[in-house]
Amino acid sequence: MTFIEGTPTQKNPNKFGFSFTYPYLCKKYKNKYMKEIVLSGIRPTGNLHLGNYYGAVQNFVKMQEDYNCYYFIADWHSLTSHPKPEDIQQSARTILAEYLACGIDPEKSTIYIQSDVPDTIELYLYLNMNCYLGELERVTTFKEKARKQPDNVNAGLLTYPTLMAADILQHRAAKVPVGKDQEQNMEMARKCARRFNNIYGVEFFPEPQNFYFGDHAIKIPGLDGSGKMGKSEGNCIYLYEDAKSIEKKVKRAVTDSGPTEPNQQKPEVIQNLFTLMEIASSKDTYDYFNEKWNDMSIRYGDMKKQLAEDIVKTLAPIRERILEYKSNQELLDKVAKMGAEKAHESAAATLREVRKIIGFKVY
Ligand code: TRP
Repeated sequence: MTFIEGTPTQKNPNKFGFSFTYPYLCKKYKNKYMKEIVLSGIRPTGNLHLGNYYGAVQNFVKMQEDYNCYYFIADWHSLTSHPKPEDIQQSARTILAEYLACGIDPEKSTIYIQSDVPDTIELYLYLNMNCYLGELERVTTFKEKARKQPDNVNAGLLTYPTLMAADILQHRAAKVPVGKDQEQNMEMARKCARRFNNIYGVEFFPEPQNFYFGDHAIKIPGLDGSGKMGKSEGNCIYLYEDAKSIEKKVKRAVTDSGPTEPNQQKPEVIQNLFTLMEIASSKDTYDYFNEKWNDMSIRYGDMKKQLAEDIVKTLAPIRERILEYKSNQELLDKVAKMGAEKAHESAAATLREVRKIIGFKVY
């Protein structure tokens, strides 16, 4: 249902004989039933791993039910490091296939590729007029990137937060599920919204809030004994991986020389294996190995074998769907096109208002 403010009134008597006008009903309906807008951007760098899945993607999937979700692949953002032309499409399509395989549903959410919706750039330009060099230079992610690629400190890198603000504000999103590392970028997005509203004396852009999954986000440990699964080699298990490669990685996971007394507290590297087991294995299996730990008869080799088997089983349906989607370019293109159309519709509506507010003529 679309809501057009100021639709010609149509008398609509209810069973008590009152008549409500159509716009009134629409407004009421809108307040009560319109879902809040959620948006998140995913940089197309590398493949999704177990940590991404349990820490974020699984929650994106759940949010589809309660919110009006926009999920997009931030391929423009990746241009700051000058990727090869032949890699650009492929990496976006790969991430798209993986998100679909995880259960992001293009019928429920709007899933699109950033570069398919050029409306964003126009808003990016307007917002850039209200962002100051000093504050952009102070953003930690900019400083880090500038340190990492000193020969390529380009203006795109500097205005990364403005592009991110445009991504969010073009759909007037209220909630943005992102990691803690994005806090400063989110603060810039709120500044952009606030400034625009103040400069033009309007209440047009809502200030987008970070959305943390809190207790619902499961932190997946790395296989190298580190606390978090990340993209570094040997530390993570990708969703697309096959049984052989998973077995090999789990086998190599860091352990210690075993418990030295009964019911001992588990050191981090061992706790990590148990945490993975909690996710991938049945409760019986977990309890079995937990008991073996407690009575000191545990054999890490057996535990790892079981863990690998259970991870393979858990990932099998996702892996199958990834392969299916990846081999169906036609479907991926169709999904991307449909998402781009929906995202364009929403962004264009916002831009129309923005143009009016700024003072341009709108035809
Ligand atoms: N900066 C985000 C990251 O590095 C990706 C991103 C780009 C994003 N635009 C966004 C996230 C808008 C949320 C909303 O992960």
